Amino acid sequence: MGKIYVFDHPLIQHKVALMRMQETNVKDFRQLAKEIAILMGFEATRNLELEQVEIETPMCKTKVNMLKGEDIAIVPILRAGLGFVDGMLELVPNAKVGHVGLYRDPDSHEPVEYYCKLPADIDKRRIFVLDPMLATGGSASAAIDFIKKRGGKDITFMCLIAAPEGIKVLQDAHPDVDIYIAAKDDKLNEKAYILPGLGDAGDRLYGTK
Ligand code: PRP
Ligand code: URA
Repeated sequence: MGKIYVFDHPLIQHKVALMRMQETNVKDFRQLAKEIAILMGFEATRNLELEQVEIETPMCKTKVNMLKGEDIAIVPILRAGLGFVDGMLELVPNAKVGHVGLYRDPDSHEPVEYYCKLPADIDKRRIFVLDPMLATGGSASAAIDFIKKRGGKDITFMCLIAAPEGIKVLQDAHPDVDIYIAAKDDKLNEKAYILPGLGDAGDRLYGTK
């Protein structure tokens, strides 16, 4: 069973609180998303493999630990997942980036796919799927289905806010996937929005409402 990691770091809690506030503007919201992605990504990449490499410092030869040429793919779920990409790329600048486009049907709340473009060698990569909101869990589960159908195997999901309902759906659908959550909220409302949440993450990132 994949692990569920809910962050308790004070910096993350503070920044999530700022993102929740309705008066937080688009510029600050985007900046906070990037900063949280860096903080979360630092932990989510903790088990990347290292190898010993011999190098020469200005003083002498020595052996050091370096990343084992691990190939990483970052896959944001459009649109809102894009808000996490810059932060993750600060940590792993050589990562390839795939995109899965999904939106929730406003009536059924079911995910509707409109785009999927992944690195050709996705089957060989360590994959980080990004989406700020895990509400019903439909979008994350469907995105990971697409990635697995294209050969993806080693998958971690990172989100800002998760509802208990979404965590269960995602864990049941993909028990092999580790889930990193900045804040676990109370529940969904009748329109499947997270409470207390932060509203519509895509609209808040891009100022479309
Ligand atoms: C939001 C969010 C997730 C999805 C979560 O996207 O970014 O992808 O809802 O909800 P779920 O867990 O119930 O599937 P939305 O459909 O609003 O699209 P957008 O990112 O383009 O605004
Ligand atoms: N998508 C969002 O952007 N926010 C929610 O609360 C639920 C789904």
